[in-house]
Amino acid sequence: MAYLGGKATGSNHIIKILNNKVFDGMSYIEPFCGYCHILRRIKNKSSYTISDSNDLLIVLLKHIQASSNEHPSIDEEEYKKLRANPKSDPLRAAYAAFTYSYNGKFFAGYVGSKERDYPSERKRYYERLHNNEVFQEATIKHGSYTIYNSQNTEGALIYCDPPYEATESYRNEFDSEEFWNWVRKMSKKNIVFVSEYKAPVDFICIGQQSKRQTVAAKAKTRRRLESVYVHESLALHPSVLTAMEDSAKHYPCNRTLKRSRISLSPNRTVKN
Ligand SMILES: C[S@@+](CC[C@H](N)C(=O)[O-])C[C@H]1O[C@@H](n2cnc3c(N)ncnc32)[C@H](O)[C@@H]1O
Repeated sequence: MAYLGGKATGSNHIIKILNNKVFDGMSYIEPFCGYCHILRRIKNKSSYTISDSNDLLIVLLKHIQASSNEHPSIDEEEYKKLRANPKSDPLRAAYAAFTYSYNGKFFAGYVGSKERDYPSERKRYYERLHNNEVFQEATIKHGSYTIYNSQNTEGALIYCDPPYEATESYRNEFDSEEFWNWVRKMSKKNIVFVSEYKAPVDFICIGQQSKRQTVAAKAKTRRRLESVYVHESLALHPSVLTAMEDSAKHYPCNRTLKRSRISLSPNRTVKN
């Protein structure tokens, strides 16, 4: 589903790093959890805390965690009412906003396809998530990534998948500079990894994968290199060093993107 650079597929380079056995037993924090495509694949941590700034997304995730098989159906008329007044019924509004929304994107228009039943596909994913042991164990919070700070968070493994810089605008403008400053601070007492297409010069790429990206509005597909970054101050940390070496064997950085030139040609899209 539905974020530019979303993690439903093509995320093995990230999982390889986060599930490296050197990080076993750490507490795991994911401050931009989205649809939990990364969380559901994480293993062997002592605790799991996830959060997101989108209040209706958190309503949806808490509902999925608590109950299976109870998925409201929303028609187009109700969709419009809930979009105008989400507070009238936050749970139904959350289903309207994501499950019944075009491309699974936040209130992006009522889903409408005669060929595919997208709401049912999404509900099947919710059921898989409900049955996922790590998701069941997770503490789910609502809030900006800044709810974690150097006073309340120490010794954790933190994975960030923020809105990509200069790509898609989320509900609120995302201040990337402020975010990277927060990562610098959090890296003093935690191990912090970030997925992005680019990073400031004091960050090091430790794993990279070419990913197909669908830009729905332009009906186009292209390939981009998505990287996992760590702050340079952590580069000599023994666990990070091991994870870097392991990652380099499978997902080395500084690849070239030969296939992207093909995908950008006007008459072709890349098939996986
Ligand atoms: C790229 S998506 C994450 C996708 C996720 N990894 C997945 O597997 O579905 C980015 C997420 O960041 C959230 N977000 C945007 N600004 C935020 C902020 N300031 N603090 C926390 N979350 C934020 C969005 O609501 C969105 O869910």
